[in-house]
Amino acid sequence: MSAHYYLTTPIYYVNDKPHIGHAYTTLACDALARFKRLDGYEVKFLTGTDEHGQKVETAAENAGIDPQAFTDKVSQNFRDLAGVMNFSNDDFIRTTEERHRKACQTIWNKLLEKGHIYLGAYEGWYSVRDEAFFTETEVVDGKAPTGAPVEWVEEPSYFFDLSKWQEPLLKYYEEHPDFIAPPARRNEVTSFVKSGLRDLSVSRTSFKWGVPVPGDDAHIMYVWLDALTNYITAAGYPDTESSDYKAFWPADLHMVGKDILRFHAVYWPAFLMAADLPLPKRVFAHGWWTNEGQKISKSVGNVIDPLELIEKYGLDQVRYFLLREVPFGNDGDFSHTAMINRMNSELANDFGNLSQRVLSMIAKNCDGTVPAHGDFTEADKVLLDAAAGLLDTLRQAYDAQAFNKALDQVWQIVGDANRYVDEMAPWALKKTDPDRMATVLYVLADTIRVLGVLMQPVVPDSAAKMLDQLALGAEDRKFAALGTRLVPGTELPKPVPVFPRYVEPETAEA
Ligand code: MSP
Repeated sequence: MSAHYYLTTPIYYVNDKPHIGHAYTTLACDALARFKRLDGYEVKFLTGTDEHGQKVETAAENAGIDPQAFTDKVSQNFRDLAGVMNFSNDDFIRTTEERHRKACQTIWNKLLEKGHIYLGAYEGWYSVRDEAFFTETEVVDGKAPTGAPVEWVEEPSYFFDLSKWQEPLLKYYEEHPDFIAPPARRNEVTSFVKSGLRDLSVSRTSFKWGVPVPGDDAHIMYVWLDALTNYITAAGYPDTESSDYKAFWPADLHMVGKDILRFHAVYWPAFLMAADLPLPKRVFAHGWWTNEGQKISKSVGNVIDPLELIEKYGLDQVRYFLLREVPFGNDGDFSHTAMINRMNSELANDFGNLSQRVLSMIAKNCDGTVPAHGDFTEADKVLLDAAAGLLDTLRQAYDAQAFNKALDQVWQIVGDANRYVDEMAPWALKKTDPDRMATVLYVLADTIRVLGVLMQPVVPDSAAKMLDQLALGAEDRKFAALGTRLVPGTELPKPVPVFPRYVEPETAEA
């Protein structure tokens, strides 16, 4: 039986159209999901939409549509984004689905039965933008610490006894040092929990758009309790005997943005502990993108539309840039100059040219077949061994969600291969020693095979195009086949360039 790996993105609010931030979180998960599948895991990769709550209800009202029709429409935009970005999610959950209502109500009943929910009244500040409650001391000049406006709320409410979970949470963090990443975020969460937890209001009565509290229809469940539950709904909960649940819960990784870490690393594990359910293994909080140095905001009008980027630069180029540009976990800045530099110098020059040069020489000088090789020299072995060692390095980087490091490591070998071409000068060997030329081209072609296979998670279409040119079959594209070698004599298709350069359009046309 193969090993299982379950990873999730946050579910996106449907009050708005998808932007670069949404694309980024899901892209990181997509690369990881693809990596794990190629590495032999049975993967469940979940994304979806967060459709309840006041924010969405208000957005629907503003659009003059009934909330269900509104969420149907906006949720579809997120599905479309997944198509355009070539995301390989196995499921797409919507919190308005019946399976989810059932899971939410079951978890609620569990918490109630175990005495962790009680009826009271909430009086305090609420930020609709964050869908979060704030204390008197947190609110400064009518704003939450996130900068979001707050409103005063007074209503009957059920509470979850979060205050009782301070010690169990701290103990859990202590015993599971990898639960929250990166480490700086883990420290932040730990100090937040150490500073004391207050019971959490988990139901609302002043609006209707949510999952009804079982047995008390006047209340709907707090949107974060509803939303977080999606992760376990999609694993088959409440059917804990289902094969899906057994295979995939607890999740291996919840990927989130730094702004929503507290919900995932404090509330969610507390709910799960209280309901006696196993906790996810890891929560990773990534950073935020700015646009040409500026905070991205609708009011500034500098929101980056992923579809426009893709149209301009190409899908795999955008995927590569987003994962390569920033140490994953840090904030990053999007700039057109940086985007063009990366796509032109790293993809087109370093990697694209390497394969184009080598494959063209093979097409011209080796009858368009994988060349036969003689004995490998020390230099040949150094390159082949370096490529063979990449998989283990990448496994570690992907397991640490260090996507930029993984790409750095790949580019080390791309650099080695380029230096090897220059040193060996196969074009000169053509006249002096054609057998040696064939060996050199073989070593390079086999290195390109390894690089192409290992780049599939980040640039799936381009890597596929590259591997097509090496006539590699589907099984040979899996990591399990990395230790094999290209078979001399295999006929190869005519080489075509894989990574085009970006050329600024003529201003007259623009
Ligand atoms: N609905 C909640 C999540 C519930 S999960 C149980 C939510 N949705 S969201 O649509 O507002 O945001 C989803 C993700 O987008 C978050 O991880 C957030 O960090 C990310 N981003 C939003 N803007 C971003 C940037 N400018 N840069 C990077 N990611 C950002 O929160």
